[in-house]
Amino acid sequence: MSAIKKPVVIGLIGAGTVGSGLIQLFLREKELLEQRLGFPLVLSSIADRSIHSLKMDGLSQFKLTTDPMDVISDPEVQIVIELIGGIEPAKTFLLDAINRGKSVVTANKALLALHGEELFSAVRTHGVDIAFEGAVCGGIPILRALREGIGGDRVLSLKGIINGTSNYILTKMTEDRISFSEALSQAQSLGYAEADPTFDVDGMDAAHKLAILGTLSFGVPIPFSEIPVDGIRGINELDIEFGRELGYVLKLLGIAKDHGTSVDLRVHPAFLPEESLLAKVDGVFNAVEVTGRALGTALFYGRGAGADPTASAVMGDILELARGIHSECTLQVPPLGFSWDARH
Ligand code: HSE
Repeated sequence: MSAIKKPVVIGLIGAGTVGSGLIQLFLREKELLEQRLGFPLVLSSIADRSIHSLKMDGLSQFKLTTDPMDVISDPEVQIVIELIGGIEPAKTFLLDAINRGKSVVTANKALLALHGEELFSAVRTHGVDIAFEGAVCGGIPILRALREGIGGDRVLSLKGIINGTSNYILTKMTEDRISFSEALSQAQSLGYAEADPTFDVDGMDAAHKLAILGTLSFGVPIPFSEIPVDGIRGINELDIEFGRELGYVLKLLGIAKDHGTSVDLRVHPAFLPEESLLAKVDGVFNAVEVTGRALGTALFYGRGAGADPTASAVMGDILELARGIHSECTLQVPPLGFSWDARH
């Protein structure tokens, strides 16, 4: 009985937009989470450099600190959740946690796109686990779908609207006929944009997510710097108007294709026929159309940015890793390390 009821203890570093959403989700759904798991899930400590200005009911039950090392080095913490974003110090913190034998959850797409293999290799070495559903398309469980749902099939291609901010901007420019900069200010005030919104409008954020999708779809590391990327900064009202007259809608797409002995990934704006499903994906919503050899085509659609949808994805990862800890491991690292040609 005591073995079944033993809690899994988690610690959070980063209590910004998504981190705060996660804390609120945890406080709101604690009972539901425990019912689903069959054992207690304990959030013991939270680190954030502005932790003392965080305003939320219920915080007094957690150990609050400004030093992430207090969370990482806490021997009780079994899963470290990194939601600070950026490459450093996030990478050092995650590697440190992994080296200490802890499993990790991150929503850090830039870090995974650029240094995923280093993290995965550390995870393999230490026999722990990593999960990162929150890194791609907010609340849509697309990584889980690629890993498990379509995991037995061969992905031939995927095509997606994977940056909520640029989709919001293009939608507003199309529907309200406002300028690019006006639409960008609106997206920023709604909290969808990255800390540096050039990542959204220049396609870099979409490219980070595409690299992760490509890795999981094709089982090969994607050299991020080789992905051709073009954003929406140069789009003006006339481009949109011409498209509209001809029955097309402009969208920023991430595209990945299996060409048999190579894969092709790219991010760029594209005109889509207005009757196509992706053309109807508006605002901050994301959608990914996946074509598998056996599956045919399936569309995954949902809220791709924002605190709550991303917190929902992160919480799903926490549950999965917590279950793994109770049942001694479900390794989720992408199956890298074999050559592409070996599959054909
Ligand atoms: N800035 C990102 C977007 C947030 O707009 O999609 C979610 O990754």
